[in-house]
Amino acid sequence: MAGIVVSALVLYWPYLVILALTFELLRPHFQKKKTRAFPDLKAKKVTDVYEKRKEAADDSDNEGDDGDDDEYKPPIAPDVPFVPYTAPRYSEKEMLERSQAFFEEMNQRRTIRFYSDRPVPMEVMESIIRTAGTSPSGAHTEPWTYVVVSDAKLKEDIRAIVEAEEEINYTKRMAGQWTADLKFVRTEWTKPYLTEAPYIVLLFKQVYGLMPRGRKKNHYYNEISCSISCGLFLAAVHHAGLATLTSTPMNCGPALRQLLNRPENEKLLLLLPVGYPSDDAMVPGIGRKPLDEIMVSY
Ligand SMILES: Cc1cc2nc3c(=O)[nH]c(=O)nc-3n(C[C@H](O)[C@H](O)[C@H](O)COP(=O)(O)O)c2cc1C
Repeated sequence: MAGIVVSALVLYWPYLVILALTFELLRPHFQKKKTRAFPDLKAKKVTDVYEKRKEAADDSDNEGDDGDDDEYKPPIAPDVPFVPYTAPRYSEKEMLERSQAFFEEMNQRRTIRFYSDRPVPMEVMESIIRTAGTSPSGAHTEPWTYVVVSDAKLKEDIRAIVEAEEEINYTKRMAGQWTADLKFVRTEWTKPYLTEAPYIVLLFKQVYGLMPRGRKKNHYYNEISCSISCGLFLAAVHHAGLATLTSTPMNCGPALRQLLNRPENEKLLLLLPVGYPSDDAMVPGIGRKPLDEIMVSY
């Protein structure tokens, strides 16, 4: 074997030398090409990753898709007409009176955990939710679904799911400080109001929207938009003479989404019973921060 290699080297060494020289001459050219192409590619990838991370950090509840911009048609036509804005105008005196009266009214709102089973007309719920739907939302995506449950069996099922999780929350998941901070509301894992109140409203945030051809529509800041909408919902419930309870049932989202057969772009944000407070309803005797603790003016 070694003999064959030696004879080949003796016979073909001039060709081997030419081959080696050619390679050495062309090497810088290949290297230049490689380094020219590679940094561009790498820079693009790094930028993509950076942009994705930045987006995720800026808007952690935004799960939509914004790729393929060439074909993209925004959900609201860019040439949607501008129309004159008309709204009631008040004198300064009227403004002051109205704002003070509204504060007095809203200052009476309390979170209620004891309900009467007295029925409430569905039409009232409809206008309350219409009010919630007047909320501003990121890029006017209106990323909310208000699921209104009055069916007795469904309310029982919801209660069973919530109580099963709340028992674990109260005994295991919630840390010492958390349970200590909640002592004043005297809540326990049992939630009788979920079957007592005539309605349970479940607010689902739509983390993305659905567009033609299976494309996902970005729902920018969907959680903030839903939270603002919920604020309007709370005000509308109170304004109608009803009561509610803002609750965040920990770990119940997937089971409740499944029970209510909601699509996969919807995630449970809040659960709110709605009805009349029971005649013996009690609330913690807490106050609210004064203006000088919540407002700074420059
Ligand atoms: C985001 C959020 C989550 C809440 N979660 C619960 C809850 O799970 N259970 C409950 O009994 N109250 C809950 N509350 C109600 C608060 O305890 C209540 O708003 C607070 O004690 C002030 O009382 P008030 O609403 O009567 O002014 C929640 C309120 C908010 C805004």
